Amino acid sequence: MIATEKDLKTHTMMLDGEAVSFTEGETIYEVAQRVKTDIPTLCYDQRLEAFGGCRLCVVEVEGQRLPVASCTTKATPGMVVRTSTATLEKHRKTLLEMVASENREIDVDPLRGYAAQELATLVDRYDARGGRFRGKRSGATREDDDNPFILRDYDLCISCYRCVRVCAEQEGDHAISVMNRGFETQITVEFEGLLKDSACTFCGQCVQTCPTGALADKKALRFAELPGAIEKTRTICAYCGVGCSVDVLTKGDTMVGIQPAMDGPANHGALCVKGQFAYDFVQHPDRLKTPLVRGDDGKLHEADWDTALDRAAEGLRRVVDQHGRHAVYAVASGRAPSEAAYAVQKLMRAGWGTNHIDNCSRA
Ligand code: SF4
Ligand code: SF4
Ligand code: FES
Repeated sequence: MIATEKDLKTHTMMLDGEAVSFTEGETIYEVAQRVKTDIPTLCYDQRLEAFGGCRLCVVEVEGQRLPVASCTTKATPGMVVRTSTATLEKHRKTLLEMVASENREIDVDPLRGYAAQELATLVDRYDARGGRFRGKRSGATREDDDNPFILRDYDLCISCYRCVRVCAEQEGDHAISVMNRGFETQITVEFEGLLKDSACTFCGQCVQTCPTGALADKKALRFAELPGAIEKTRTICAYCGVGCSVDVLTKGDTMVGIQPAMDGPANHGALCVKGQFAYDFVQHPDRLKTPLVRGDDGKLHEADWDTALDRAAEGLRRVVDQHGRHAVYAVASGRAPSEAAYAVQKLMRAGWGTNHIDNCSRA
C-alpha cells in the first residue's frame, strides 16, 4: 500500500538552535532548505537521487564524531544539528580551494549553462583562493568532439557526477559515464568516443546541471562576445504539446540561447534537442519577413499584408462557396508562437466553421 501524506509521521529536530518539524524520510538538507537555512552544495540537484560526493553540505550532528553529509543523512527525531560552525566553514573553504586550485577557470561565461556559475558563486562567498594546492589535475578536455551543441571542457570538471546522473535518472539515456578513479577520473561515453556516436539525444540536461561549465552550450557561446546583459524571458516551447517551460536568453535584440525552466510544471528542467537547441530560425537571414503572393506568372512575389490577406480570404471564400465549409483547412507552424497557433484555430473554428486545423504541436 502506498503511504499518503496523512500517513507519514511528523517529528521534531533542532536545527541551529530552532525546533523544526520534519516528515519521516526527509534528509537534513531537505529540512534545512524548507526552513530557508542556506547550506552550500555542489553535487546536489533536487531532481536527482542525493549522491554525497562533494562533502560541501556537511553539518555537525550532536553525538557524531565527524560531520555528516546533510544531503544523504535522514533527519531523525530529537536530532541536534548545526549547519554553520567555524570548523564547518573552514572545511568548506578548504574543499573549495582544492577545487579552485585544480580548475583552469572558475568565473565562466553564464551562457555556458543554467548552473555554470554555481562554483564561482561559492568560491566568491567563501573567498576561497585558487592556486593554494598545486599538483596533479584531473579531467582531459575533448576538443575533438565536434558536435554542434555541447562543449566538453573537462579541464573544468569537478567530478560531481551530476551530468552522469541526470542523463541516467532524468533522460533515461545512460549516454555518459565515469571512467577511472582519483585524478584519473574522466567523464566519458562508451569506448571513449564522441557524443554523436553515443546514445546521447542532445537534450542538453547535462549542460544545464553542470555547476562549473565543464559541459557547456556551444550554440549560446557563439554570442559570448556580444555586448550587453543577458535577459531571461519565460515562455512555453511551441514545438509539441507537452508545454515545457523555457527561459529565452537575449542580449538586446539578439536571441542568444534557451535554458529550461527548473520549476516548469511540465518539464522540471528537461527539454528535448529541439526545445533546447533548435532556435536559429528566429534570426536566420532566409526567414520570410514579407508576405508572398503568387502572380499570374505562377511565381511568388512580395506583397503588403492587406494584399496577401485579401488574396487568402478570397481563395478560402471561393472554396467554401463551391464545396462547403469542410473543404478548407489550415496547418499552423510549430515554430510560431502559441498565441499565433491559437489565433489560427480560432479563425478556422469560429470564422470558417470547421475543425479542420492541425499543428505539429498536437503530438
Ligand atoms: S545531452 Fe542529454 S542524452 Fe546527451 S549526454 Fe547530456 S543528458 Fe545525456
Ligand atoms: S562535467 Fe560538470 S556535471 Fe559532469 S561531473 Fe564534471 S563538473 Fe560535474
Ligand atoms: S551536496 Fe551533499 S555531498 Fe555534495
